[in-house]
Order: sequence, then C-alpha cells, then structure tokens
Amino acid sequence: MKIMSIVLAAGQGKRMKSKQYKVLHPVCGKPMVGHVLDTVIQAKSEKTVVVVGHGAEQVQAFIGQQAQFVKQEQQLGTGHAVQQAEGLLGLEEGITIVICGDTPLVQASTIEQMLKLHQESGAVATILTALFENPTGYGRIIRNEAGIVERIVEQKDCSDAEAEVQEINTGTYCFDNKKLFEALSRVTNDNAQGEFYLTDVIELFRQDQEVVQGYCTSDIAEAIGVNDRVALAEAEQYMRTRINRQHLVNGVTIIDPASTYIESDVVIGADTMIYPGTVLRGKTTIGEDCILGPQTDLSNCSIHNGVTIKHSVLDHAEVGDESSIGPYAYLRPGTKVGKHCKVGDFVELKNAILDDGSKVSHLSYVGDAEVGKEVNIGCGAITVNYDGFNKSKTVIGDHAFIGSNVNLVAPVNVGQGAYVVAGSTITRDVPAGDLAIARQRQENKPEYAEKIRARAKAKKDGK
Ligand code: UD1
Ligand code: CA
Repeated sequence: MKIMSIVLAAGQGKRMKSKQYKVLHPVCGKPMVGHVLDTVIQAKSEKTVVVVGHGAEQVQAFIGQQAQFVKQEQQLGTGHAVQQAEGLLGLEEGITIVICGDTPLVQASTIEQMLKLHQESGAVATILTALFENPTGYGRIIRNEAGIVERIVEQKDCSDAEAEVQEINTGTYCFDNKKLFEALSRVTNDNAQGEFYLTDVIELFRQDQEVVQGYCTSDIAEAIGVNDRVALAEAEQYMRTRINRQHLVNGVTIIDPASTYIESDVVIGADTMIYPGTVLRGKTTIGEDCILGPQTDLSNCSIHNGVTIKHSVLDHAEVGDESSIGPYAYLRPGTKVGKHCKVGDFVELKNAILDDGSKVSHLSYVGDAEVGKEVNIGCGAITVNYDGFNKSKTVIGDHAFIGSNVNLVAPVNVGQGAYVVAGSTITRDVPAGDLAIARQRQENKPEYAEKIRARAKAKKDGK
C-alpha cells in the first residue's frame, strides 16, 4: 500500500509570542517540523506534502527538497489545511498520514504500529491517542460503550462530561486517502472557533458505518503539541531524555544525563565518556573511547577516537585520534588537529591545521596557519595574522621549534626543523634548519638594582 503524508505547518503559533514561526522553533537543536519530517520519512512516506502559510518561505527554505509544498493562504482550520493537499494527493490510492508540525516527539515506530492496526482492521481512519492526567487544551476522544471511537471534540466545544475524558487526540492520523478528501468536502465550520476541523471527519466516517480506530500510545511525550514555550521546554526535556537514553543503550557513558545536552543528529561511538555540562550540537560526530567535558561545547565537529576534550569550546573543528584539547581551549571554524596532538590551556586556533604529534600547550593564538608534524609551539607564542586590513598565512614546517612568546608576523614561513628563539618577533621567512633570533641583546648593569632602589626611595622621601 502506498504511504503518503501531510504535515500541517501553516499556523503562526500566536501563543509562542515569538518573531519566529512556530514550527521552526528548535527542539534539541532541530526545528520541530524537521523532527516531524524525519519521522514520516522514516515511516516510509513515499510522497510528503507540507502545508505552509505563516512563514512559508522560511519553512520551505528549511525543508528544501525533502517534501512538496502547498500554501494555505488563510488559516481556516486543520481540515481546511489538509484540503490544500488535494491537488497533489487527491487522485492517489493509499494511506495518508496526517501529522501536525508542532508534535516533534511522535516516533516512526509508533506510526508503523498505527499503520499495521489500520491495515489489519480495515479502518478508514486510525487516530493516535494518549491518556493525559490533565487533558486541557487537547481534543477529546469520545468512545461509545463498546469502546469504538465515535468522534473527537475540541476543548472549546466540550460539554462538562466530555471535558472529563482523559483520552486525547495527538493530532496524528492514518487515513484512507480518497475517503479523507471526500469526507473533508462535507466538513463545516459550525463550531466554537468557526474553523474547519480535520477532527470532524471522524464523526462523518462513523455515520457512513466505516471502521475508525484509536491507537493509544503509552509514551505521553509523543502526544505533546507545542503551542507555547511551556510545552516547548517540556518537549525539549523529553527529547533530551530520549536522545541520551539511546546513546546510553549504544554504549556511551553519560555521567549525568540531566546536565548533558546532545542534539538529535549527533553520532557518538561506544565507550566514550561524557562528563556533566557537555553540549554537543549540530552534525557533530564523536569516535570511540573519547572523554568529553566537563563543561565542553562542540558544534558541528568531527572528533576521532580516543580524544580528550575538557572545559573547551569547539566549532566546525576536526580532531584526530588520541589528541588532547584543553582545559580552556577554543577551536574555531576551519581548525584541523591531527593525531596525537596537544592543544592546551588558553589556546585559540582558527582556520589552522596542526599536523600529527604537534603541541601548542599554553596561552597561544594560532590563526590562518599550517603547522607541520611534531612541531612545538611554546607558551604564549602567537601568529600575527591580521594587520588591520588583511589576513595573512603562517606556515611552519615539520619538527620546527617555536620558542615561548614568539610573534610570527604573517605572511611568514618557518622551514622544516627550524628553531625560533624565545621572545623573537619574526617578520621574515626562516629557512629550514636555521636558527632565528629576533630580539634585542640583553645588557646587565652590575649591582645596579640596589642603586635604583635607593634613588627611588630618596625621591619618595623628598630629598
Ligand atoms: C489540534 C487538534 C486537537 C489535538 C491537537 C494535538 C484540530 C481541530 N484539533 O488542536 O484535536 O488535540 O491538535 O496537538 O485539528 N494548522 C494549519 N492550518 C490551520 C490550522 C492549523 O496548518 O488553518 C497547523 C498548525 O500550524 C499546527 C497544526 O496544524 O502545526 C495544529 O494546529 P493547532 O492550531 O496547533 O491545533 P490545536 O488547537 O493544537
Ligand atoms: Ca497544536
């Protein structure tokens, strides 16, 4: 059976009180609508239509090629929203999943179970439901004495008795595609909100003696519809717990999952150990046997195996096997650290390549640079890459030694095996194997220390 899906994402989300459109608010680093799309694609949707309206351009730009789009010019309700997809899907035979762009926690495995029930029972509609202790705000599932779903009643249309019902509509459904559009053509907006409710098709199906199923999920997180920031924070917490749990199951040690923030697309190898206060964002990948944190923030980084990173911030950086970063290092975009390197405390690297076995142990800035293998950059040595107008490059050959507190004024090359004496300000290339010294010679004035103290004291005493 062909599986299709419709994602409802046209609403503005007034209750979010935000300049950002609702479905673009991130949960664990990914816009809500992105999570929903991942889910339907994972549930093998062959044709996916996203209904856009408010913020259509931004939503479309985010989703790109993953779906087709239809525009709902006026937000007249969820039923009206689904109707907009009729032009693209109306003639198809198959099952259509309808899901809201603000329910980021629905899982593909749950949709697959719904689809199974739907097909095996010959249903025309299967609703994903959940039992909430406090169902306020959600549509209620009204079942008859035999337990068969008869209708869905919105909060604002509930009688007192209906408001007591704790089984709620999550806003995710499977429908017989053709019957869905046929029923929608009969839905009216005769209700408390004057909207065309998608939920009204259920009662129409029952009048037609069709089979309607309710599939109740035991994971209440799946049912969260994010209408305001309170629910957004709840969704974030549920999603974080779910992500961390999956890494734990996969063999990652997380010392304190409650204080570890891992975004949804992050990949982590087994036997990596994560200390509290670690934030892993974007497309970050971490190898096996790494030690991360405490207090470490990685965005879009590629970290290989056996790497240690403590108290550091890395953004678009790559770190090779068995290297050690921090504490208190800052690796900015374009940084590539090789194998067995050491980047120590208060070191900043930007757009810099550090080849295997090199060390920048303390208090350095290395920017716009290519550093060869087994190079030692001494404490406080820096590249001077910016003259106020242009950025220039520093190249350091294999096995070179850069003494402490050296300034390498770029553009400049230090050849293989060269030795730059501490405190030098290097403005010209250093050929391979040379020693460079560029600082003033020291003069010692014998016993002058006492003299200068005596002079200072006399001045103070007014003599
Ligand atoms: C909806 C359901 C309710 C369910 C809840 C679950 C209806 C009538 N009600 O209520 O039974 O318990 O979801 O979270 O369906 N949208 C459009 N165009 C519109 C209106 C809405 O695209 O004209 C989109 C919104 O962007 C949103 C989704 O549909 O992503 C749901 O709309 P929302 O207004 O949040 O519905 P709820 O009141 O939460
Ligand atoms: Ca909602």
